[in-house]
Amino acid sequence: MGEYRVPEQLKKFVTEKTIIVRSPGRINLIGEHTDYNDGFVLPAAIDKAVYVTIEQVPGTKLFLHSVDFNESVEIELTAIKPVPGHWSTYILGVADQFVQKAKQVSGFKLNIYGDVPLGAGLSSSAAVECAVAFALNKILNAGFSRKELALMAQAAEHTYAGVKCGIMDQFASLFGKKDNVIRLDCRSLDYEYFPLELNEYVVVLFDTQVKHSLASSEYNVRREQCEAGVALIQQKYPQVKNLRDTTIEMIKECISPGDIVYNRCKYVVEEITRLQTGCGDLQRGDLMAFGQKMYATHHGLSKYYEVSCKELDYLVEYVQQSRDVIGARMMGGGFGGCTINIIKKSSVEGLVSELTVAYLENMGKELKHYMVNIEDGTSIIK
Ligand code: GLA
Repeated sequence: MGEYRVPEQLKKFVTEKTIIVRSPGRINLIGEHTDYNDGFVLPAAIDKAVYVTIEQVPGTKLFLHSVDFNESVEIELTAIKPVPGHWSTYILGVADQFVQKAKQVSGFKLNIYGDVPLGAGLSSSAAVECAVAFALNKILNAGFSRKELALMAQAAEHTYAGVKCGIMDQFASLFGKKDNVIRLDCRSLDYEYFPLELNEYVVVLFDTQVKHSLASSEYNVRREQCEAGVALIQQKYPQVKNLRDTTIEMIKECISPGDIVYNRCKYVVEEITRLQTGCGDLQRGDLMAFGQKMYATHHGLSKYYEVSCKELDYLVEYVQQSRDVIGARMMGGGFGGCTINIIKKSSVEGLVSELTVAYLENMGKELKHYMVNIEDGTSIIK
């Protein structure tokens, strides 16, 4: 386990009995929009995280304070309900899971601070949910396993944030391992770590600085379109439960080509295969082959799944012209957020300055970039 420090911003809230939990954001190398189709994903936890201080208080009241928003909320446990769009909803959603599943829930005082950029596709919301779930599990002595906590955090996102997300983000936050990626089977939740060895390459994220308000509603629409595709395929192949069980041939046979649902299903099935072969590339050290798959994923997400935007496309198309960027694609739910890029270390600086100028000129926005280190998942740091 790595050593993680208590952030300065939280120090003033710490007393002897305070527990502090760190829970990271995530990247995903490949396998996008596959988790809720029972496919595979390849995420890793990163060096940007959410931190909560927590202590139990007598009674049944929650005292929540966000350092980032400089705002406090006080609420009775019996009165909690979703407040979509507000930072507290993720915390309340997790508290609600504990009310439903743990035997006894008491009042608590919780302060939260994080350095996962919001709306950048690095799963700041999952980091919050997992930090809170891990912290409550500890103070209530509830005994849930990491897998159970991941599922509770995901349920909180469904019920309190209204996003019918898959399990990838919460799983990555809770199960991250320093310098390793996680190959997760989202159907069985079986997983396997393997070291990410990039040699003279590094992972860099380019942040479009675009956060589309469409993201959550369109996300849920994509999920419904995949389910609609499965229903069509089931008419002929009743054994099929999810897109994971289908092949491109089945899709061609059961759905009219050119149909939106056809395009969505085609992307997902191809992406599940890309991940399988992509893992082989990584394990053999064939980074070039892996990088090509990332570009193919971006093409699919942009043209068939239609969750990209002009800024994401611009960033990917730009770096694709450079020999030193061996792979790039949009990452996460889409409609904004970051691209993930595998870039030759020695070229990063030059490329960043060049791209910053070009992005401002062509897209009218400041470009941010983050160098990524892969870190451990959720843990108690005090
Ligand atoms: C969001 C969701 C995840 C996953 C990705 C797309 O991050 O929370 O469950 O579906 O989008 O791969």
